[in-house]
Amino acid sequence: MSNLRVDGARLWSTLMETAAFGRTAKGGLCRLALSPEDAAVRRWFVEACEAIGCAVTIDQLGNIFARRTGSDPDLPPIAIGSHLDTQPTGGRFDGILGVLAGLEVLRTLEDADVVTRHPLEVVNWTNEEGARFAPAMLCAGVFAGAFDLDYALSREDRNGVSFAAALAESGFDGTAPVGGRPLAAHFELHIEQGPVLEAEGLEIGVVSGVQGIRWFDVEIAGLACHAGTMPMKLRRDALQAAARLAVAIDEIGRSDPDTSLSTIGIFEAYPGSRNTVPETIRMSVDLRHPRAEGLDRLEAAFHAAAEEIAAALSVTIEIKPVWSSPPVVFHPEVVGAIDAATAQLGYSRRSIVSGAGHDSVYISRVAPTGMIFVPCEDGISHNETENIMPIEAERGANVLLQAVLQFDSAA
Ligand code: GLV
Ligand code: MN
Ligand code: MN
Repeated sequence: MSNLRVDGARLWSTLMETAAFGRTAKGGLCRLALSPEDAAVRRWFVEACEAIGCAVTIDQLGNIFARRTGSDPDLPPIAIGSHLDTQPTGGRFDGILGVLAGLEVLRTLEDADVVTRHPLEVVNWTNEEGARFAPAMLCAGVFAGAFDLDYALSREDRNGVSFAAALAESGFDGTAPVGGRPLAAHFELHIEQGPVLEAEGLEIGVVSGVQGIRWFDVEIAGLACHAGTMPMKLRRDALQAAARLAVAIDEIGRSDPDTSLSTIGIFEAYPGSRNTVPETIRMSVDLRHPRAEGLDRLEAAFHAAAEEIAAALSVTIEIKPVWSSPPVVFHPEVVGAIDAATAQLGYSRRSIVSGAGHDSVYISRVAPTGMIFVPCEDGISHNETENIMPIEAERGANVLLQAVLQFDSAA
């Protein structure tokens, strides 16, 4: 079985075929969670899994599990999961590679008539991106007990559409309970989404863990007034306060450029009229650091800057925590299986900490979990130009296959 390899050409054509669902003019994808485009790729995925004899289960959050039977009915499944939803201007590989490589692993085993001891389940986790419904990794989070079901169902997108309504509309409002059952392990193949592997000329990243993330909503309240009559010194301009805060947040991220990251991804000004001083600014803040103390430091600096700017410009700045995902260390047995499989395949590798969040972050709370990274072009992700080479997808899927087989025989 150590000679078994995936079919790289088939994996690539599957990636290209599903990239038709939600394709953008620039060749990327817009497949927001539970949108019609997401529903279309989900139907494709269910059909493809059923075509190789998998039993497909859909839970109450639309998480899809495609199960291939193992030889020992008493063993819990080994899961291979990631996500098929994308950013609004997303690429063709973020998350998608992990799900479709899982399908390719099952197809390879099917072709070779190999039956594993554990059942295998390929999983499409709903709303990993958090682009439509905050927070990210929402439904893997419920599976792992980090959030409750009603919290997820009641999340709203920016148009006020609830998760529950979008789920029903998609047709993927399943009936299986979310979580509450054991997984023997969870494996996730993903593109690195950063520049490290490519810069070092390495083929595989053996992911040791994931850095911490904190999300905030910020609302700055000033006073709307006439652009032609209100003297500068009497204004309470929410946008000018936001501009100063934006600079401060950037400086907070740059204070320790090796470890700290800070981003304002959403920025909206109201009432949005050329000759009215802006009264309200709504913006998002994303802070990241590999250690909890580091996150505490970034957050404290963010609060201090907001207080100082609010006082100086006579506005109020409200900071609401939206999400906190602590740093995660993956399971030594799963990481070990990935490392051993990579070595056995003869691919160059290094250990790497993930800068992005992943479904595996939450699943690691309830199952031994690990991740495999492959390089992506110029480290660019969350962008329509996101790109990888077919051989990179193939190598990643081979590591996934061999790591799962090793874990299956050892566990
Ligand atoms: C999740 O995808 C994140 O890293 O924001
Ligand atoms: Mn992803
Ligand atoms: Mn993403």
